[in-house]
Amino acid sequence: MTRHFLSITDFSKDELSALLDQAQRYADALVKGKKIKTALQGKVALNLFFENSTRTCTSFEMATYRLGGNVINWRAETSSLSKGESFRDTIQTVAAMKPDVIIMRHSEYNAPYQVSKWVDCPVVNAGDSYREHPTQALLDALTIRQAKGRIEGLTIAICGDIAHSRVASSNIHFLSKMGAKLRIIAPEFLMPQTFPVEGIGTFTSMEDGLPGCDIVMMLRNQKERMDAALIPDDATYHKDFGLTMARLDLAGPDALVMHPGPFNRGVEVADDVIDHTTRSLYLKAVANGVPARMAVLASCAG
Ligand code: NCD
Repeated sequence: MTRHFLSITDFSKDELSALLDQAQRYADALVKGKKIKTALQGKVALNLFFENSTRTCTSFEMATYRLGGNVINWRAETSSLSKGESFRDTIQTVAAMKPDVIIMRHSEYNAPYQVSKWVDCPVVNAGDSYREHPTQALLDALTIRQAKGRIEGLTIAICGDIAHSRVASSNIHFLSKMGAKLRIIAPEFLMPQTFPVEGIGTFTSMEDGLPGCDIVMMLRNQKERMDAALIPDDATYHKDFGLTMARLDLAGPDALVMHPGPFNRGVEVADDVIDHTTRSLYLKAVANGVPARMAVLASCAG
């Protein structure tokens, strides 16, 4: 059976722990400059990005090269989609060239799953719609485990635009499977009505939700997915929901901040918080994107 990586919900706690362990081994090897087994030697990955990306696309490329493979970067803007070719025909056309793995980002719900039914190579979901971003959840979990030594029992707040965030959705599944206590902090209009897992605490004020949190994960307002009438004013949003140093301190002196990026400075997060040399995990998480994706690619296509 072809091994895809489409959704956190497809994996057990043990399988996710094994992926985290493998990602940690790659992270250690990268830092120490150790030789890495070239699991993708002679293989070609096809990066199919139908939506923009900086971190995810580049780190999948890096990960493929670090494993000895090659990457082709296909972009929707420069493809024949603009000449009226259908989505399915485009996929079947590129799949006919026999890539060893397809890495895919798409704005439509379930698109990578659909593609996995049409092609005969593994498909890795690099983010679809507001629903899934499984490799982001893996790299976030890896970063949390490095910083705090564990995930189980930690109190983790995910704050901001939860309603439109695939990062929140995948993290909720991943972190709750690993035994974290989750809190969601969001304004009423960005708070989902229901959650896929039990036991999540919900708060509509940072002051109420932050005290006692070990990790505070901030999210960008995904204006491209919001009803225009609902888009909040940046200054008001910052006043009510922006993470400032004072608010981070409310969580506790050891609380650390995360953000999947891209972030909007002065909106969901203040400059001194995101740039903090010890309390911001942002760049560590970006770096972890490479070993986390190496673990996924090696397991699907190695
Ligand atoms: C996010 C995404 O594209 O889902 N970024 C990422 O992959 N690191 C979050 C966002 O766009 O706000």
